[in-house]
Amino acid sequence: MYLSREMEKMLEGEYGAGKQMAMKVLVALGDSYNAEKMVRIKSAHISGASYDTVGEHGLNLIKEMSADSKVVVKTTLNPIGFDRDFTEEIDKEFYAKQMELLQIFQKMGVELTCTCTPYYHNNLPKFGDIVAWAESSAIIYINSLIGARTNRESGFSALCSAITGYTPYHSLLIEENRAPNFVVKVRERLNPGMLGLYIGKEFQGIPYMIFEKIPDEDYLKLMGAAMGASGNISMFHAEGITPEHKKYDMKGLESVEIEKKDLENFAGNKDYEAVVLGCPHLSGREIEKIVRILEKREVVKPIYLYASRAVIGNMKEDVEFLRKKGVKVLADTCMVVSPLLRGKYRKIATNSGKAYHYLRSRKFGGFEVYLGDMEELLYDSTR
Ligand code: F3S
Repeated sequence: MYLSREMEKMLEGEYGAGKQMAMKVLVALGDSYNAEKMVRIKSAHISGASYDTVGEHGLNLIKEMSADSKVVVKTTLNPIGFDRDFTEEIDKEFYAKQMELLQIFQKMGVELTCTCTPYYHNNLPKFGDIVAWAESSAIIYINSLIGARTNRESGFSALCSAITGYTPYHSLLIEENRAPNFVVKVRERLNPGMLGLYIGKEFQGIPYMIFEKIPDEDYLKLMGAAMGASGNISMFHAEGITPEHKKYDMKGLESVEIEKKDLENFAGNKDYEAVVLGCPHLSGREIEKIVRILEKREVVKPIYLYASRAVIGNMKEDVEFLRKKGVKVLADTCMVVSPLLRGKYRKIATNSGKAYHYLRSRKFGGFEVYLGDMEELLYDSTR
């Protein structure tokens, strides 16, 4: 792979041990993909921010890198293990470790956004920007809906790119690799989480979606997050919606139609104890919709909402209204990366295919999960 003199100096350790380690990782990664060169990035987004997922080993590795290096591009951070404003129920040792990890990131210049939707706030790439993002739901969102370009980075490779300012040039950064590989037709209104889980599980590559009824951004966010969770899809095109859909020829591609009956296996048991919404973190529009549904209703089952600190800050009145109703509105964290719900509940309901996928796994609590539509879950948990 071609390396500039600056990159070679990084590799030789001239800019410190942190940059040296980061460049070594990126070169190895680039070589494994036969990348011909490195390219500059405009921003980075780092996952693996919760101590619950990073653990002691990860914390020590990041600490080592932070000793003599800082990020050189705008870099935002994924959710952590709790809301920094509500820490009463958090185990003291976990709290201390999580805060230590945050301080390390802060010292490196990472913005402590603690959200998987930084694109709603201060990290919104432009069309065509090359970036190095981790967090599969954000990756698929910016590749598909914005037309920015990122590969599916791990938290660590995104951090290496943030420190050096470079990423190896391969896969989705290259125009021809962004072409669709198959066509999916959707004629009826399907649950976005179920649809995404099904596509991620059954297919590989980049789908070209044709919807009879054009869905909104929130629907596509939920669908994309689920595709990225059950499979390794990192981009989709949607006819008439996404910015790159007109570029490619669909002739000769395999075409499938997905119907309600294909998704029956995903529903689960309706006998749940609590509702969790906001995976990926809720948009302002979604919060407004929740407020409209709950306006004249009384909450009878616990409802947890997760959103970024920025979105919550912009919607103070709505959030206050929801909290007065007894709804828990949390920033910084989410139902998957926080240990809060484990031990409290066994059966949970969500509208998120991604949350459905992870919450059922033993690592994230082994919950029984019901996957439904947001409206249905809100009506069923209120009266
Ligand atoms: Fe975000 Fe947590 Fe879901 S990081 S995408 S809310 S698993």
